[in-house]
Amino acid sequence: MKAKRIVFANQKGGVGKTTTAVNLGAYLAEAGKQVLLIDFDPQSNLSSSVSAEIKKPGVYDLLTGKSSLEEVVQKSPVENLSVIPSNIDLTGAGIELIDAERREYYLQQALQECDGTWDYVCIDCPPSLGLLTLNGLVAADQVVIPLQCEYFALEGLSMLVKTIKSVQRQLNPKLDILGILFTMYDSRTRLANEVVRDVSQYFSGRVFKSIIPRNIRLSEAPSFGIPINLYDPKCTGAAAYKHLAQEVLDRV
Ligand SMILES: Nc1ncnc2c1ncn2[C@@H]1O[C@H](COP(=O)(O)OP(=O)(O)OP(=O)(O)O)[C@@H](O)[C@H]1O
Ligand SMILES: [Mg+2]
Repeated sequence: MKAKRIVFANQKGGVGKTTTAVNLGAYLAEAGKQVLLIDFDPQSNLSSSVSAEIKKPGVYDLLTGKSSLEEVVQKSPVENLSVIPSNIDLTGAGIELIDAERREYYLQQALQECDGTWDYVCIDCPPSLGLLTLNGLVAADQVVIPLQCEYFALEGLSMLVKTIKSVQRQLNPKLDILGILFTMYDSRTRLANEVVRDVSQYFSGRVFKSIIPRNIRLSEAPSFGIPINLYDPKCTGAAAYKHLAQEVLDRV
């Protein structure tokens, strides 16, 4: 079986990419899927959100061929959920130095062995449209765009969509937008509702029905190194990510 590869991308910082990769991954795993999380951000937020050991070899060692896939995969606190951590070596400069040719394809190549072992591979990108995010888009079948329900949310969205289209044309024709995901939604603010309405109109059919509410429990869980399904499965954030996982299972 070919693994389904989902990349979480938005060059805007702090919009919920990592939170979504971790918690969607956790609920896909809870649904019985074999899931591999890949931390593709030198900040290593995803790694620490699932208690991965970032001093061990990570995704950079895999890209450079220093370590094998088996050597970099770690278990997470959730059953069926594995992770490849990142570390500071994984800066843009880090991979740019590897080889100028085909440098957008490093992650794709490194992940070829994932088929058969994992059902889903979830790739968390840094907040930029640089070489790391390009590698993520080239390695993936589907992209999820987390969008914070705030005034500047739309800033940069057209640039991101343009980048995705150019990757589709030049580097990875099978790439598709799985959906735009509203995050940190607060129903009490008129602005949040306007963002949801406008974006849903513009990207009709490309917007997830699940909307992730602003929920303090989601922001607490990473400091305990566990996803929300273990930290507080009854909170509203948990319910929203569980719902999202079902939507993804239906769509992919
Ligand atoms: N639905 C939510 N409710 C409350 N807090 C949230 C929610 N989603 C994310 N957060 C918090 O907001 C911050 C940013 O989220 P996150 O790290 O997932 O964003 P990101 O897009 O990965 O950021 P970066 O661009 O820096 O990688 C974190 O502190 C996270 O815990
Ligand atoms: Mg992040």
